[in-house]
Amino acid sequence: MIEKPQEPDSQSRTFFEMLGGTEKIREVVERFYDIMDTDPRAAGIRAMHAEDLTSAREKLFMFLTGWTGGPQLYIERYGHPRLRARHLPFAIGESARDQWMYCMIKALHETGVEEPVLTQLASVLYELADMMRNQQG
Ligand code: HEM
Repeated sequence: MIEKPQEPDSQSRTFFEMLGGTEKIREVVERFYDIMDTDPRAAGIRAMHAEDLTSAREKLFMFLTGWTGGPQLYIERYGHPRLRARHLPFAIGESARDQWMYCMIKALHETGVEEPVLTQLASVLYELADMMRNQQG
């Protein structure tokens, strides 16, 4: 009998579980904004953010916790994320999207997220980041 190849882990476990819960998500988000704050390659999107990144850090942590399959912290506090609408005030084109993904992939690497989770997560985040685009370039 020919056995079906095993389904990837992601079929049964959430990203929240595969990452290791809130502690890891907090670590990734902290690293993400540290990179955005200091890496010249992210200067374009850093300039769109408030000088104080505390609220952005907290909101992305809360959002990603729920979005990866953990507790719906963001929704409990702020209601439906309406992410695309909330990003409309910012001019987001391919360059901004790619800067955001650059920071995120670097943060995932630097916090020790391993393959295949890293690539799978980066790929679904890319789809979301691409949906935030609201202008050319
Ligand atoms: C595509 C490139 C993106 C850019 C340039 C961008 C930029 C921004 C900016 C400038 C803010 C306002 C932050 C502040 O208060 O200073 C923001 C808020 C936020 N972003 Fe993004 N973002 C991007 C993609 C994403 C993605 C992919 C996610 C989700 C995975 C996300 C999640 C959030 C959340 C949860 C907030 C807070 C919304 C609120 O409650 O006000 N962003 N983003």
